Amino acid sequence: MKIALGVSGGIAAYKAAEILRLLQERGVGVQVIMTRAAQEFVRPLTFAALSGEKVITGLFEGGGAEPNLDSAVEHIAVAQATDLLLVAPATADLIAKFAHGIADDFLTTLFLATTAPVVIAPAMNVNMWNHAATQANLGTLRQRGVRVVEPDSGYLACGMTGPGRLASNEAIVAAALEALGVAADLAGETVLVTAGPTREALDPVRYLTNRSSGRMGYALAEAALRRGARVILITGPVTIQPPAGAELVQVETAEQLRAAVLARLGDATVVVATAAVADYTPRSRSQQKIKRDGPLSLELEPTADILAEVARRRDKQIVVGFAAETENVLENARRKLATKSLDAIVANDVAQAGIGFDSERNAVTIITRERVVEVPEAGKLEVAQRVLDEIVRLRQAAATTVRTGK
Ligand code: CTP
Repeated sequence: MKIALGVSGGIAAYKAAEILRLLQERGVGVQVIMTRAAQEFVRPLTFAALSGEKVITGLFEGGGAEPNLDSAVEHIAVAQATDLLLVAPATADLIAKFAHGIADDFLTTLFLATTAPVVIAPAMNVNMWNHAATQANLGTLRQRGVRVVEPDSGYLACGMTGPGRLASNEAIVAAALEALGVAADLAGETVLVTAGPTREALDPVRYLTNRSSGRMGYALAEAALRRGARVILITGPVTIQPPAGAELVQVETAEQLRAAVLARLGDATVVVATAAVADYTPRSRSQQKIKRDGPLSLELEPTADILAEVARRRDKQIVVGFAAETENVLENARRKLATKSLDAIVANDVAQAGIGFDSERNAVTIITRERVVEVPEAGKLEVAQRVLDEIVRLRQAAATTVRTGK
């Protein structure tokens, strides 16, 4: 999910840096676009450093003497890639240009070129805000579906008091997420996600592992962040990028994963175990590289069942497991739900080609004590959203039980 964050030139321009950070914490990618006037207040470098991406500052920037063709059509590419255009702060001048379709820089051109929803957070002097021209322009924009985050009243930088102060960063971010269709139904929850494979060393260069890519767990972490949760992501070695905003704990072995999970369990209100934990670990680890010297048999011992231990030790946490199966999928998953005392188990048939392990896609069945929900093949982020829907449902059911005492 990607937001284009437009920053126009006002005293409040510096606040956009905090808005950028809050959006990133919610797992949203941000492309910053600054107007020329905004650059008088804040240097583009601030936003580039925070977003880790180049900041767009003009229509025809290229660096050389000649305008660069790539950047001349960049607004179309950004317009197509963005899921939402958010402008904070939006000046009276920018609002007027948006209202009248004037496209004389990157941001105003992007506004016309994008079909994504638009949210603007105005900030200006109180008289400019109250002026009939500004109010008429805002009326035009509202009528066309632009969402306006009303400014707060208070002491303004110009020395006057009244409406015109940029709304709070939290209000702006909430409006942006709402426009993106992202529910904040996990706000207040801390979701602990385990992800990826573990590695059990045989000797200094070899280990036992599995084909887990970590994608399902990372998608869950990202989806939970977007829905307002704090996320602790405890991960085995993977090659994919973790979502921005997750508290990352990197582990290697099953025993390290167990220790990390138990250490953070007290912080969590929800635990989702997607990690493909090694079921066996070598009984002893050779200090030296094992030499090829005739047949070799490995002596393995079972690892501790982390999820079952979490369920035993839990306080009020909702505990969800994953069951990777190659046969009798539902039957095996149901058995794990019961024996591990889980609230839900997400079963997937890893024998099917193209889904599950080491793939972008998945198809699962979510089993709780009350319901069975089939999630047909979809991207892992979509599957993650359906798993979180069930977690929200379980949370609501638990709250109802507490209220009614049943
Ligand atoms: N799990 C765990 N600790 C282990 C093994 C598994 O916490 N040592 C968790 C996984 O993260 C997953 C769930 O238990 O959420 C089920 O994992 P799975 O490998 O399917 O089941 P196992 O209990 O290992 O049973 P089996 O291998 O016999 O199918």
